[in-house]
This record gives sequence, C-alpha cells and structure tokens, in this order.
Amino acid sequence: MRQSRKLDHLKYSLALADGPGDSGFADISLIHNCLPDLAWNQIDISSSIAGIPLRHPLIINAITGGADDVAAINKSIAKFAHLTNTAMAVGSQYAALEYTDVKHSYKVVRENNPYGTIFANLGAYATPEEAQLAVEMIDAQGIQIHLNVAQEIVMKEGDRDFSGYLSNISRIVDKVKVPVIVKEVGCGIAREQAMLLASTGIRAIDVGGTGGTNFIAIEAARSQATINPDILSWGIPTVISAVETKSVLPAHMDMMVSGGVRSALDVVKSLALGGIATGMATPIIRMLCEKDIDYAVNWFQNFLYEIQSYMLFLGASSIRTLAETPIVITGHSKDWLTARGIDIMNYATYKKHG
Ligand SMILES: Cc1cc2nc3c(=O)[nH]c(=O)nc-3n(C[C@H](O)[C@H](O)[C@H](O)COP(=O)(O)O)c2cc1C
Repeated sequence: MRQSRKLDHLKYSLALADGPGDSGFADISLIHNCLPDLAWNQIDISSSIAGIPLRHPLIINAITGGADDVAAINKSIAKFAHLTNTAMAVGSQYAALEYTDVKHSYKVVRENNPYGTIFANLGAYATPEEAQLAVEMIDAQGIQIHLNVAQEIVMKEGDRDFSGYLSNISRIVDKVKVPVIVKEVGCGIAREQAMLLASTGIRAIDVGGTGGTNFIAIEAARSQATINPDILSWGIPTVISAVETKSVLPAHMDMMVSGGVRSALDVVKSLALGGIATGMATPIIRMLCEKDIDYAVNWFQNFLYEIQSYMLFLGASSIRTLAETPIVITGHSKDWLTARGIDIMNYATYKKHG
C-alpha cells in the first residue's frame, strides 16, 4: 500500500496544477535601488540553515523514497543536487523503518551525492529512536519533521490521532545528533503554532504554505472521492505564513519558505521576508521527469543568475542584507496581516525584523 502511494504522489503531483490556494507572492513588491553601490562579484548568494552551510538559498524539498520504483527518481534528484551544489531532503523514511527492503531507495541519494547536504524526513509521530535511525540511514546533516494533518485526514488510510506532537518533537530534538527542522507540506504555519514549535528546541521552521503542490487535492485524486471544493483551498498562503512565523521566531532560529516557490523572484521575495532559505519540490521533479538532467542543470544556472540580478537591483550583497531591504505588502496579505495585528509598515522600511 505504502509503495503504491509513493508512486501515486509522484503521478498526481505532476498531473495536478498548483493551488487553488494562493501563495501570496503577488502581494509582495520589491523596491528597485538605482544606486546599488555594488559590483556583481561582490554579491554572495551563499546562506545556511540551522547552522548548515548552503551554497545558495534553494533547497530541494522532501519528495520521495520508500518504493523500488522511486529509487531511480531519487538517484536523478541526487545527481541534480550534486551537479548544482543544492541541499536536498528525502521523502518520509517511515517506509524504510517498517520495511528494510526499501532502504536502498533512500540510500541511493547518499551514494549519488556523497558529500552533499541531505536532510532526513519523518512525521511528527516518529519515535526519537526512529528519527536517529533515519538520520543514520543516509548520513544526513539535518532532519525535517513534517506536519501534514490535512493530508492525513483526506487520505482514507491516513492517521487520525495528532495528539502529543509537540512533546514528541522535543524528544526528537533531545535524541538526534543533528539539527531538527519542522515543516508543513502545503497548509502553512500560523504564528501561534510557530511560537509553540520554537519552544521545542528545533533550529528552523519551513512554513510550507498554500499556493504550490496541494496534498489535499493529490489525496482526493488518489482516492477518487467526491470532495467539497472548499477544502482544496484550505491553509495559510506561503507569504502570510512567512510573515506570521517571522513575527514570533527567536533570533537564533531560521525560517525557510516553501509552498509554491516557482521563480527566482519568489525566492528573492521569500528572503526579503526574512527567510534564510527556500524550498521547491514539484518543479524539480517535473523537470527531471518530463525533461532531463541537462535541462534541469541549465535551468538552475539561469535561476541563480536571476537571483543574483535581483539582489543587485535591491543593493543587497548577501542573503542577510536582503532581509533588511524594504518591501511593500499589499492586497489580501496586507488585509490578513493587519487584521492579525502584525506591523507590516515595518516591512516598508529598513528596520524590519526588529
Ligand atoms: C511527490 C511528492 C512527495 C512528497 N513527499 C513528502 C514527504 O514524504 N515528506 C515531506 O515532508 N514532504 C513531502 N512533500 C512535500 C514537499 O516537500 C513540499 O513541502 C511541497 O511539495 C510544497 O512545495 P512545492 O509547492 O514546491 O512542491 C512531497 C511533495 C511531492 C511533490
């Protein structure tokens, strides 16, 4: 069952469009700096998350593993990651903890990217011991713990008990020997939960908001169930989730922005919102499955060039200084954040993030 689910997820993520929930990137405007006082070569696009260095701010987010048939895709993602110096996460490793014969579908990632940065991935129900095993399985530098309550509820065979997650995450943090990052998978994280998560000792939050891959839609398509369309837009737009999370995140914690990040401009907006890294999932597998690795590597080189161009236009020489550039928040994001009492005027000056 789990093996065919992994294939279904890939199939439907490629077949279905993003959304219908919005990411909110259109509500963010960046302000051109006509006097950047910078040379192209002075711009440093390197970053880090949870103390782990990154050559650039894009991470290939968790996608797959756990079935014989997805090992080839993981190999291809790992090769792409290696060729482009991109950190990557594997998909949930629970399958390999239950069935050791599918471990190879994860280990193939480390085999094809021996020196790269790789994140392990498990759900928040995993025991601390399982989390440590997942890390060791692929010699991971960090572990992502995913939260996906809406997906589970739409999934016929999904979990129905989500109690005790917060204390379990604290136990995982205490046990594993690498930094822990908590992520949503497309419904976003509000500031109330971001604050609670910050108290567990995790090092970073990946907001994983709406506007990109939609696991509610994927699970509905898998089960061929009739579903009320209202639920398809459920969740917090990525941009709103990023501002909510950043508003309560302690300075020692990092924010990653994902969910519908589709362009270099989306990446730069995410970093200007205070993210230190961004994640992308479906566009990467779409390129690797529907085009080929050469196409993907070429796309990626242009992508980085565009990021650096926007940084120059903003007068930002580093990811940290990018977070200090002013941005204007309008539209639904402005209305939402204002109603929530979050000071968006602060974002329009150089003083944001305190
Ligand atoms: C086929 C597929 C499988 C995924 N499996 C996992 C998973 O096992 N664990 C997880 O944390 N996220 C998983 N995700 C979610 C992604 O990591 C990411 O949060 C989500 O797709 C939103 O990013 P995107 O809009 O760039 O695709 C999966 C995504 C895809 C497309």
